[in-house]
Amino acid sequence: MHHILFVCLGNICRSPMAEAIAQQLIDQQGLQAQFSVDSVATSYEEEGNHPHPGALKAMRQHGLDASAHRSRPITAKDFAWADTIITMDHANVANLQRMAPSASDAAKIKLCLDILPGRQGQAIDDPWYTHKFELTYQELAKAIPAWLNALA
Ligand code: 4NP
Repeated sequence: MHHILFVCLGNICRSPMAEAIAQQLIDQQGLQAQFSVDSVATSYEEEGNHPHPGALKAMRQHGLDASAHRSRPITAKDFAWADTIITMDHANVANLQRMAPSASDAAKIKLCLDILPGRQGQAIDDPWYTHKFELTYQELAKAIPAWLNALA
């Protein structure tokens, strides 16, 4: 069982979208015995909050319902649970590297778009600021199948 932890700043936009997209692919492809996914925040800003209405809308338009999700900050237990930590931007990477309990936990941290040829080193911009929730969905919908392939 490979545990994938998706992480962003608030855990109300990008990482819950990533988790929902991954879970849908896992369910559609019958990969439940192979992958387990979760998502968390690097901050306490949105703790307990449901996903952003823009994120919920974009997900709904693609057949995803993440309305039961609630934001929570990453813990040491999450670092231990995760085999791969997929982050959205360079601030996420820097924050997680600082928070990682060990060097082996820090080595799990990846940038989401690094899996896509031509997108290496690029961030998934924060739709909390850009309001481009559909663009976020499209970027995640390209990257996440590639991650599942790579980690299978
Ligand atoms: P996310 O978006 O990291 O994609 O969930 C954000 C949500 C909340 C905040 C920032 C980004 N905030 O500052 O509260």
